[in-house]
Amino acid sequence: AEGLRAATRARGITFGTAVRHDLLQSDAAYAALVAREAEILVPEWEAKWDALQPEPGRFEFGQLRSIALFARAHQQRLRGHALLWHVANPAWLEPALAQGEARAAAVMEAHFTAVLRETHSYIRDWDVLNEIIANPPGSDNPSPTQDDLRPTPWLRALGPGYLERALRLARGLDATLRLTLNDYGVEADTPWAEAKRQRLLRVVRRLVERQVPLDAVGIQAHLQMRDPFRAEPFLAFVQALRGLGLAVLITELDVREPDQLAPSIAERDAAVADYVTRFLSAAVEGGVRTVLTWGLTDRNTWLAEEPGVARADGQRTRGLPFDEALRPKPFHAALGRVL
Ligand code: XIL
Repeated sequence: AEGLRAATRARGITFGTAVRHDLLQSDAAYAALVAREAEILVPEWEAKWDALQPEPGRFEFGQLRSIALFARAHQQRLRGHALLWHVANPAWLEPALAQGEARAAAVMEAHFTAVLRETHSYIRDWDVLNEIIANPPGSDNPSPTQDDLRPTPWLRALGPGYLERALRLARGLDATLRLTLNDYGVEADTPWAEAKRQRLLRVVRRLVERQVPLDAVGIQAHLQMRDPFRAEPFLAFVQALRGLGLAVLITELDVREPDQLAPSIAERDAAVADYVTRFLSAAVEGGVRTVLTWGLTDRNTWLAEEPGVARADGQRTRGLPFDEALRPKPFHAALGRVL
């Protein structure tokens, strides 16, 4: 059967997925699916700080390289994820950043330098800044904010200028690398999504006005069906970003079903596919040309494993294009139709 990779290419859209190096090596059926479906791969964990720099100055690139080898063997592209994030950091990082501005700047520079030198030949697009916008009041985890930014060890150490520092550093190290700012909670019609969209737009506008290098915004799209989706505000947001000269990508699409599940699997899968269709139709209308899901199959997904993300009722999650037996679901058909 023809995968999304071939089907979407003809229409100028690029489909991809997050992958895990261990599964690519140990699970032949999964690896074959990834090879057939995805034009772009992003490491689900292997390019985060705790994977890449477990101890200060000691870099580990083996797992990332194994994904890069797979991608090369199948003529796929890789995205990098992520150069700065407040999660998945090694234990040594936060105390190091707390030692003051000079040390924090040196730590950032050492990491970016080693990582971008390593990945120059196989990653041309990095999420430089991940989840840096503060969540507004009314959201699951609102935070106090300075300049619309999430309070993180990087913000504490370097102030709001850390964004500019990171982006200029990345550009200086690799002049043609695509620099992306990636975030979530801006997709649906929650009471606070508009506030977060405005925060993100303000942050991006400030960067653009100061001519700070930034090429793209990634919208994670960890969708939750309990949230109503309306195309209009989302489309306006995507268009505002594009109006600033930025590309817009969907980077981590998956779907959490509502607490009250439909009685049959068929109805559940149809509802998920419908939600995805409405969301992606708006995205494509807004000019999105790259869509990645956060995994391909319900067999391996953070939606089943992550505390606070996994279903509380113990039911299996059905939030990705393929089921636990790697059979395509209506979600997959929806991707084929919309992309
Ligand atoms: C998640 C991974 O899927 C998990 O396996 C890991 O334990 C935690 O991180 N937003 C992001 C991703 O930017 O890096 C997260 O990935 C999911 C939410």
